[in-house]
Amino acid sequence: MVDVKNIVVIGVGLMGNGIAQVALMAGYNVTIVDIKQKFIDKGIASIEGGLKRLEAKGKLVTADVMKGLKTSLDLASAVKDADFIVEAVVEKMDVKKDIFKTCDENAPPHCVIASNTSTMSITEMATATNREDKCIGMHFFNPVPLMRLVEVIAGEKTSEESMEIGIKVSESLPCLRGDRYIAKVLKDKPGFIVNRLNAPVSIYSNYLLDTCLEKGIPFESLDADYESKGPMSPLVLADYVGIDTSYHGQNYYAETLSEDFKPGKVIINMYKEGKLGRKTGQGFYDWSKGRPQPDFSKISKAGLVDQDVRLAIRLNEGCRILEEGIASGWKVIDDANMAGMNFAGPFEKDIENYEKYVKKLEDIAEKIGSTYLKPCDLFRSGKFVDMK
Ligand code: CAA
Ligand code: NAD
Repeated sequence: MVDVKNIVVIGVGLMGNGIAQVALMAGYNVTIVDIKQKFIDKGIASIEGGLKRLEAKGKLVTADVMKGLKTSLDLASAVKDADFIVEAVVEKMDVKKDIFKTCDENAPPHCVIASNTSTMSITEMATATNREDKCIGMHFFNPVPLMRLVEVIAGEKTSEESMEIGIKVSESLPCLRGDRYIAKVLKDKPGFIVNRLNAPVSIYSNYLLDTCLEKGIPFESLDADYESKGPMSPLVLADYVGIDTSYHGQNYYAETLSEDFKPGKVIINMYKEGKLGRKTGQGFYDWSKGRPQPDFSKISKAGLVDQDVRLAIRLNEGCRILEEGIASGWKVIDDANMAGMNFAGPFEKDIENYEKYVKKLEDIAEKIGSTYLKPCDLFRSGKFVDMK
């Protein structure tokens, strides 16, 4: 098996800088590539910022770790000595395919090319290369240094050896909140495990957001509705991830899973206006002074959210993941959700009462006119309970 020493990270935005930081901390030689020097500079500042937090705790010396870093604006020459490449550019298939092609044409034959795509087909990206066996998905969660999960995804032609290399590299990257949890994704389907599990919640939230828009209800009031907010309330998290990532993801699901995923008016408007959240300083919330901390005790509720609907949607989608053979059992789905999003997966919670959630889902699918939200056969049957 290839001994990975040189890693190239392409796109040094929110995800790329985190991937580069942990790869440097693991002792790899890391080259970051972007399209403009100002993006490289911003990426370096984020990497250094992360390392300095650890230096302040006496855990490392930033300057020593940074010695492993090179930068480049020229992808073709940057990958000449690469053993392993991770691309983390915008969520657009044509851009990713161009990058895979350039990497294939210029990287050594042994080099594995990985994509950090949130949603899209690894099999399709691999078709841009003459090394489909060496293309994999390597899906990190944001922020990379703090979230334990990496989903490693096999495309249809990916070799076992490339998967093993991807898993080994993923395991070697330090996580500041415990050991990495590597989920092997068994089928290359949209959204893989964790994003797929949570994806159809967007059908419900687009309905709620557009209802707020129609009725003139402030979005914070919708956020205030959620009783269990997890580590970040849903709209703070949407801003944190980036409205562009959600927008592209929902369009991709609309093309590949169901039209019901098409972004709603609110998301389309925000995308067009460049209100992308944390990365542009404004989304649902103002990020110009750092992470927003809304005081929900002082914000009036919209009274629109039914908490059980979200759980019902996630249970149903978890059943689809099992039906389609993407994960081996529901424990992997729950564990991956915890490792990637820091909140519980849907199965362990209330699995015995699944019939109540089947009914919930039938009602909401009817109310908002979504065929996709209807309970799937496995969910209806209750047979998933034994598929731990
Ligand atoms: N390097 C080194 N240290 C860092 C660091 C970095 N880059 N970033 C943060 N830290 C340190 C901080 O200095 C802090 O240290 P102390 O505890 O010593 O002060 C510690 O890590 C914790 O940092 P924060 O105070 O910022 O963390 P927090 O307690 O507020 O939790 C969080 C932050 C873990 C992100 C939490 O809010 C959370 O779990 N949010 C949910 C995030 C989530 O759901 N992510 C997944 C999104 S979906 C996705 O990613 C997939 C996709 O395809 C879209
Ligand atoms: P971002 O916009 O913060 O960063 C993307 C970077 O790629 C930018 O610096 C941009 O200049 C650069 N770039 C664009 N085209 C390029 C090219 N042709 N060559 C080199 N660099 C190029 O994006 P992000 O939020 O970090 O997302 C990157 C990828 O990671 C997407 O595929 C996204 O779906 C995925 N992802 C995002 C998250 C998240 O929470 N944001 C989580 C997991 C996966």
